[in-house]
Amino acid sequence: MLTARIAVLASGGGTNLQALIDSQGRVLTHGKISLVIADKPGLQSELRARACGIAAAVIPRREEGFEEKVLQALEKYKIDFLVLAGFLGILSKDFIQRFPGPIINIHPSLIPSFCGKGFYGLRVHQAALDYGVKVTGATVHYVNEVPDGGQILLQKAVEVRAGDTAESLQSRVLREAEWKLLPQAAEIVSAQVVREKEEKL
Ligand code: GRF
Repeated sequence: MLTARIAVLASGGGTNLQALIDSQGRVLTHGKISLVIADKPGLQSELRARACGIAAAVIPRREEGFEEKVLQALEKYKIDFLVLAGFLGILSKDFIQRFPGPIINIHPSLIPSFCGKGFYGLRVHQAALDYGVKVTGATVHYVNEVPDGGQILLQKAVEVRAGDTAESLQSRVLREAEWKLLPQAAEIVSAQVVREKEEKL
């Protein structure tokens, strides 16, 4: 059966990556994670990939030629689309134009709230608490050159509870929203990629 070849770019613990790995053959049936790129050595994300027999590459984000090396790896592994899962960098317009496939990202708020430059990780949830919102959540969106600016693909709301800290809120948003949305979004994009491959046969 035709499948979409997926690469995941990660900067952190990789819990979203793990949710994606675990969804293969279940929610994610038209796509296969074929490469994980960790943007610094020693990340849990890399270990999670290797533990499941998925090819993993370490391409330090802060080194010269990061984007070029990523593009070369994506071509080498014949990647159809790229998932940013806990990736903390901002990809350039040049990168986005040179990579032929879709790029999606998961952000831990209901965009357009609490997003854009400087909103990442716990800072997003602290901003939601500081504002006093009663509902937050997560968003999967297509990536363009504007940080968190691309077309929204999926969203899921999560309640904010009295006494929440940024940590407790992050944990609930991960569990109730992110780990569900990312596999669903990857399946939507994979099915589209497979349809396009079939049309070319
Ligand atoms: C998550 O909140 C994700 O939304 C954000 O980075 C955090 C860590 O993700 N982009 P992970 O555990 O590394 O997947």
